Amino acid sequence: MTAKLMDGKKVAQTIREDVKRRVDQLAASGVKPGLAVILVGDDPASRTYVNSKKRTCEKLGMRSDLIEYPETVTESELLSAVHRLNGDPGIHGILVQLPLPRQIDETAIINAIRPEKDVDGFHPINAGRLLTGGEGFIPCTPNGIMKLLEFYGIGVEGKNAVVIGRSNIVGKPAGLLLLRKNATVTFCHSRTENLQEITRQADIIIAAAGRPGMLRGDDIKEGAVVIDVGINRKPDGKLTGDAAFDELEPKASFITPVPGGVGPMTIAMLMANTVRSAENSLLKDKQAETM
Ligand code: GUN
Repeated sequence: MTAKLMDGKKVAQTIREDVKRRVDQLAASGVKPGLAVILVGDDPASRTYVNSKKRTCEKLGMRSDLIEYPETVTESELLSAVHRLNGDPGIHGILVQLPLPRQIDETAIINAIRPEKDVDGFHPINAGRLLTGGEGFIPCTPNGIMKLLEFYGIGVEGKNAVVIGRSNIVGKPAGLLLLRKNATVTFCHSRTENLQEITRQADIIIAAAGRPGMLRGDDIKEGAVVIDVGINRKPDGKLTGDAAFDELEPKASFITPVPGGVGPMTIAMLMANTVRSAENSLLKDKQAETM
């Protein structure tokens, strides 16, 4: 079997087209969706992601504010910035690029974002809604993974899904989304014993460990679906995933490339969350008018 490539660029394009249509619809009501991105320090990877988010916003006719701080920023400075953006009616989404420097309590910053503007879906209210099955913002990367599975007609109900990695950004929410769709979910992580025994049982594997090439050909069964969330930079500067692509491609039924798989989906889902936040805010304003 040779795996079919899951083309994140193509699927992200369909999501962006839908976002653009909704942005145009909002414009008719005088609303321009606005995303504020807070970037601390000068980590090149973070800057690349942030620039890409900003560019995509602008292409889709959305407002995008980049607020930059030096590595030495204090927690109270960041909290003030978040409070100001919480109160800015032109800003519908607030994203604080992670990781933050050591002197900052990441949780305190995330908790300060109004859940209605938390387009990353990291606030405990949104995380709790995901856990309990309510309507909230879903973290962009796991949401993008679900859209990719859907696009390629890969049913997850009753399937063995193995998630490698347990971060709040990817692993945990990805597992919850798969569970919501009635998959049987196993979470694996750095302390998991006999990882290969578990991954070999998987119909669907989400590799989000952040360890280049950690998922090898012998680790999967014939026909498994491999979603590679890893974005690791090789010494030559090229990007590589958590999956040893060349070993897995002949064995898997579907696989995401790196780059061009999950990555483009993350940004597209961020745009979708931001436009949704603007729609929610317009609806609320309209409801308030009629009361
Ligand atoms: N750092 C790595 N991924 C993400 C993400 O999805 N959102 C934010 N805010 N920071 C990140």
